[in-house]
Amino acid sequence: MKAQVTLENVAKCYTKGTMEIRALDGVSIDVKRGEFVSIMGASGSGKSTLLHLIGALDRSTAGEIYLEGKALSSLSDDALSDIRRERIGFIFQQFNLLPTLTSFENAALPTLLAGRARREDRERVREMLAAVGMGDRLDHKPEELSGGQMQRVAIARALSMQPAIILADEPTGNLDSKMGEETLAILKECQESYGQTIIMVTHDAKAAAYGDRIITLKDGKVVEELEAI
Ligand SMILES: Nc1ncnc2c1ncn2[C@@H]1O[C@H](COP(=O)(O)OP(=O)(O)O)[C@@H](O)[C@H]1O
Ligand SMILES: [Mg+2]
Repeated sequence: MKAQVTLENVAKCYTKGTMEIRALDGVSIDVKRGEFVSIMGASGSGKSTLLHLIGALDRSTAGEIYLEGKALSSLSDDALSDIRRERIGFIFQQFNLLPTLTSFENAALPTLLAGRARREDRERVREMLAAVGMGDRLDHKPEELSGGQMQRVAIARALSMQPAIILADEPTGNLDSKMGEETLAILKECQESYGQTIIMVTHDAKAAAYGDRIITLKDGKVVEELEAI
């Protein structure tokens, strides 16, 4: 079976003034549907760049990325934003919740942007918030929540469109170890109960061990791939 996510010799260069930074340098990775892959590596090794490219938030400089069989370089910006909205859920270290919106409104935002505000869509958002243990905090604003609670709202937001692929960038980076473990357990549940594909960046080996496979980046290159035991 063809992989759900394929990177073929992907490179990404950033130009900063006269300096050229090679953030990714010939990365080839296959991720199967329903797999949980952890990406490790030191700060600056290209982890976030890799997730941005897989998530169609940015374009590669060379090489090709296939998402569910579609070559991203061949798609228009509009087509990429459709893929982002319909197929991908993002979870970030900084949560990225909008401060003026409630938990419910934050979690419902992707469905609203996709023009889905029917009763069943709103009901699903409520179910997602309940599933991550936030069913009794629907009307709270982010400033009235703990870090762990904010991350749960962010996860509910990522799940609101029932994405095939969840991309998480250091999702436990701002959480204490207990909240971090709970967050990882929710991601594992997404994989095991809903068959969602998870690609998670972390520099914590304990967090990475939740994955089926651990890929290590160094200076924009894959230097190691380990199957979890
Ligand atoms: N928008 C950008 N413009 C210029 N350089 C960038 C940009 N984003 C990342 N970089 C550089 O690319 C390299 C990889 O960054 P990043 O992917 O954020 O690494 P990581 O997430 O592993 O810490 C770093 O050297 C970083 O400084
Ligand atoms: Mg990063």
